Amino acid sequence: MPVMIVGRNAELAMIDKLIDQARDEHGGGLVVRGEAGIGKSTLLSHALAEARDLRVLRVVGAESESQFAYAALHQLLTPVLDRVDCLPGPQAAALGTAFGLGGVGEVQPFLVSMAALTLLSDLASERPVLCVVDDAQWSDAASLDAFLFVARRLAAESIALLVAVRDDEGRPIDTAGVPELRLTGLDLRAARTLLGERVSPLLLEHLVTSTGGNPLALIELADLSPHEAVREPVPLASRLEQVFLARVRKLGPQLGTLLLLAAAAGPSSRELIRAAAGRLGIVPSLLDSPEADQVLLADLDFRHPLMRSAVYHGATPAERLAAHRALADADTQRTDRWAWHRAKATDGPDEEVAAALESSAAQAIRRSGHLAAAAALERAAELSPAADDAQRRRTAAAHAWWRGGDTTSALDSLDRVEDSAEALYLRGSIELRAGSPSDAVTLLMSAAFAATDPHRVLQIVTLAREAAYTAVRPDVLDSLASCLARLPEFTDDTSRLLAKLLRAFIGTRMDHQQASAVADALAEAERFEDPEMLLAAGGMAWAVGQYALSARLRHKAVARARAIGAAGTLALTLEYVVPDEISLGRFAAAEALADEGHRMAVETARSNSASLHQASLSMLAGLRGRAGEARALAEQTMAEAVSRNLVKVADTAQRALGLLALADRRHEEALAVFAKLDGSGPEPGSPVMAVSAIPDHVEAAVRVGHAPTALLDRYLKWVDTVGSTELRALAERTQALLADDPDVADAHYAEALRLHAATERPFEHARTELLYGEFLRRERRRTRAREHLRSALDTLTRLGTPVWAERARVELRATGETARRQEPGRTEELTPQELQVARSVSLGATNREVAAQLFVSPRTVDYHLRKVFRKLGITSRHELTRLDL
Ligand SMILES: Nc1ncnc2c1ncn2[C@@H]1O[C@H](COP(=O)(O)OP(=O)(O)OP(=O)(O)O)[C@@H](O)[C@H]1O
Ligand SMILES: [Mg+2]
Repeated sequence: MPVMIVGRNAELAMIDKLIDQARDEHGGGLVVRGEAGIGKSTLLSHALAEARDLRVLRVVGAESESQFAYAALHQLLTPVLDRVDCLPGPQAAALGTAFGLGGVGEVQPFLVSMAALTLLSDLASERPVLCVVDDAQWSDAASLDAFLFVARRLAAESIALLVAVRDDEGRPIDTAGVPELRLTGLDLRAARTLLGERVSPLLLEHLVTSTGGNPLALIELADLSPHEAVREPVPLASRLEQVFLARVRKLGPQLGTLLLLAAAAGPSSRELIRAAAGRLGIVPSLLDSPEADQVLLADLDFRHPLMRSAVYHGATPAERLAAHRALADADTQRTDRWAWHRAKATDGPDEEVAAALESSAAQAIRRSGHLAAAAALERAAELSPAADDAQRRRTAAAHAWWRGGDTTSALDSLDRVEDSAEALYLRGSIELRAGSPSDAVTLLMSAAFAATDPHRVLQIVTLAREAAYTAVRPDVLDSLASCLARLPEFTDDTSRLLAKLLRAFIGTRMDHQQASAVADALAEAERFEDPEMLLAAGGMAWAVGQYALSARLRHKAVARARAIGAAGTLALTLEYVVPDEISLGRFAAAEALADEGHRMAVETARSNSASLHQASLSMLAGLRGRAGEARALAEQTMAEAVSRNLVKVADTAQRALGLLALADRRHEEALAVFAKLDGSGPEPGSPVMAVSAIPDHVEAAVRVGHAPTALLDRYLKWVDTVGSTELRALAERTQALLADDPDVADAHYAEALRLHAATERPFEHARTELLYGEFLRRERRRTRAREHLRSALDTLTRLGTPVWAERARVELRATGETARRQEPGRTEELTPQELQVARSVSLGATNREVAAQLFVSPRTVDYHLRKVFRKLGITSRHELTRLDL
């Protein structure tokens, strides 16, 4: 029976609203937080009572289940598992593997979460759904991630998701992106209503003060004698535990032991508890006595979670050990739980238990329960008699922490192992993705030299190359080359190809011969299936000027990352596709992808990737005419970049600021920015930001009266090595800017335009026309000037970059021609997500396919699509295919 709820008017209203909105296809998630006994479960039961017309799914986290990956999600979805067959194939398979219902291979957590979302969304299309997760602090980490993933994607669903979390218990939970309701204590009036006449007004006041209005504490302490109730304040939970413990002690030793078994085993182990009781010579029927009823519910779960912790933590270590041993002995099926009970029943080294935990961890990893695996491996390491076993298990634990998104624990574990090749490799990976890339270079170099397995060396070298590029450390390329030279011939196709590519790429100094060797090796790279390998190959293709191939490889990398549900890798691959789209002049598309990349990176704790996407977003905001936002984003990104020494991120943010100043003709400022950018000092052949920014840099310098010919020389050297048409066009433009003789300048501009015409770089093309037009006007050749300026204006307007278009318009006016201000295209009104949905649909994908690609529910796709139709004034999917998105 639901209790009479006192106080809490605002909180109840919030929950009612959440449920109401879910009825109206406008669902959401809510995390209810607060200390033990503050009334979280009470609010949840109100929600359950309120939502009688909804389909309800619920689960309660249990401490003893917290190490089993996807246990809580499984429990939540058990009543509706018959729907799994309707899910898209990869999602159904992922869920099957996660729940241990078969399936092979390792699952990607995002695919499991997607499966849960799609399943709930399907369910909600029949009847609104309420999901309730109580005691989430004890849910296994993988399930919790899935709950939060779902909670962040409910805006267009008939689904409400309530998650109650107790503070300061279990692992800290980051609920970023989901609204939070923090419960505090009841006020004096509510407390009086709660306790009625049971306590005197004076004692009531004292109780409210000393408990902070905690309802559970008020209720329990009100029964104590006034003398007891006013003892020295102690932390609330432990005080309540003492109250419970005192109550349990009165029940006698036999029942006490039974309760300890129940506390140690967890709620879903009824049979095991009875069997273990038998082994300890206790009559299991005691569990059904009225005394037990005071503490336990019918399913042997505790009436209040604090009772469980009171019983468990109130026992002596020896009693706990005996309880776990009895449970392990009673578990004839030797499940994962057996390994854990044995592990808790052992206080010294024990190889059998350690090995059992290690294999239970391997199972968890297959289900992508990385945090659960990490905990098992940590304990396995502690129990390992042999030092090298301990080292291996702890390193594996570090790896699992990292893959589970817990960087701090990963580094903690690594601090406790000796530096092996594996440990260095892992440390390097962590630094590259979430720390300092230049530290990553050092670590990965050491790892590459320490590793003995050739496949491992190859993997490490691939990552080290990326790190060297990211951190602008061309000095290490020679050592990487010598590492590669030591490797034998590989027999498998993929490794052979990768080794060949890397050997060609990481040569001494990049020259023509080497560039063409790389181009040769790249011919086969489109066969790769692994997103990270595709990305590596794409980077090399880019570096040797094969832009079309590079874009294809990177697009395939993105598609593969989406297909396997690897969200962190998706964020990474998008880092490279965004600049590709920018150079194709597809700013809106680029912004949509950068926005997605940023969200994915944040959600998977890849902070360096998030920063880079933010830098791209700043550049795109600037290009698309939102200067204030661009500057704010760039500044925020710079601060992060400086604090973690992220050279590439800083360079991108600087470049965004430089471009913004250049567009506005604030040349002094632009010059200062580009000069800073140049500080990272790359070598020719190390194709990084500073070299590729030279045309912009020179433009700013020339406009303030400098003649930076040294910059030009460096650029020409690079362009000569790479030899691409795109870069040669920019080289011509830069030479034109620096030419003293107008005839020479004219010839360079003309050549630049000829080269541009053979490429797909509309933005750079238009900028060259703009500069050429400015030049011609100063030369008083008005008619020709107008021609180029008009063309520049058209292109820049079409690309949707108002600041640059405005520059062309001003120039055109100076020639005596006024151009009408053009309205921006209607696609400009779409949000990044709407644009992405529109583009995928225009390519022929169904809503379910788009949903799977973008990690949202099909209904959300439908929601965005309806808005797209409205904004673009169209009525069918077919019309979309005819738009240029
Ligand atoms: N607003 C309220 N009105 C009346 N009784 C309440 C109220 N809030 C809580 N209680 C009572 O206080 C006790 C503890 O509340 P509840 O179990 O909801 O706490 P909790 O926050 O879920 O604690 P835990 O973190 O331990 O799960 C229950 O007996 C409940 O009936
Ligand atoms: Mg509760």
